[in-house]
Amino acid sequence: MTVTPPISQVAVIGCGAMGSGIAQVIATAGLRVTLVDRTRADLERGRTNIEKSLDRLVAKGTIDSSAATGIIERIHCSVSMDSIGDAGAVIEAVFEEPAVKREVITVIDTVAPSASFVATNTSSLSVTAIAAASSQPSRVVGMHFFNPVPILPLVEIVRALQSSDEAVEMARLLAEQIGKHPVVVNDAPGFVANRLLIPMINEAICLLEQGIAAKEDIDTIMKLGASHPMGPLALADLIGLDICLAILEVLHRDLEEDKYRPAPLLRRMVDAGHLGRKEGQGFYVYR
Ligand code: NAI
Repeated sequence: MTVTPPISQVAVIGCGAMGSGIAQVIATAGLRVTLVDRTRADLERGRTNIEKSLDRLVAKGTIDSSAATGIIERIHCSVSMDSIGDAGAVIEAVFEEPAVKREVITVIDTVAPSASFVATNTSSLSVTAIAAASSQPSRVVGMHFFNPVPILPLVEIVRALQSSDEAVEMARLLAEQIGKHPVVVNDAPGFVANRLLIPMINEAICLLEQGIAAKEDIDTIMKLGASHPMGPLALADLIGLDICLAILEVLHRDLEEDKYRPAPLLRRMVDAGHLGRKEGQGFYVYR
């Protein structure tokens, strides 16, 4: 018996590191994707990221080249938000800036009024505040994917104060449909994953700054002593030091506890533009 998928077309807004990964996994599950960004150059960069990721999967034998071609064909790129009207669901992955997110949410209200839910992939902002910008706040939820999206199975499904049970359930089902493992949590600063992970990274930076141990040793201790696949400083480089700082600032401001105060060294590194892997230098140097 063929089971008709509940949603056959998804719009993804923003094709940076996250949006391109999200589009890839959705298309890999056989759904059609409309991928929107501001300029043709942004879209070209996102498509190249997807092609490189698929090339790696073909080289590893995870998928064959005809499957990779099919995935690319299911992703339609556009610079116009008007092209998302047929989408059954919309996922935004634009910059982590409240004003930009709110603006995108209001445009989605206009161009995709009948999408079953609208998800924000924010990593630190209040989903409740983002939903408040919508004329249909009950259909707004958080879908917090993890980087790299094609590899990491978790999606935190974030229930805002206004989210309906139907919207949360539709988002959970879509995550399952695309092969992810959804976990539903309530909206709170950092949700669950970043509330645990980012303070640990901050503490590792404090240890480094205080000269308690060398960076390699801090990472080795957590790899060999706590079975973490990578140490906290290498992980900070992977996430992006600017993103770690932004999340800490939200935790510190909204939870009002000193334990979330960003390490001064983290601020200096962000000021210096040493943002991690994406800039070629963070705690480690990348070629
Ligand atoms: P990015 O900077 O790589 O990509 C953002 C994309 O959004 C860019 O291509 C930009 O051109 C596009 N964009 C900005 N404004 C737009 C608009 N008005 N309309 C259409 N496109 C627009 O950022 P990244 O890392 O992909 O993050 C995106 C979101 O995902 C952020 O909210 C971030 O906090 C969240 N996130 C990031 C994670 C990470 O490890 N990088 C992990 C989980 C969530």
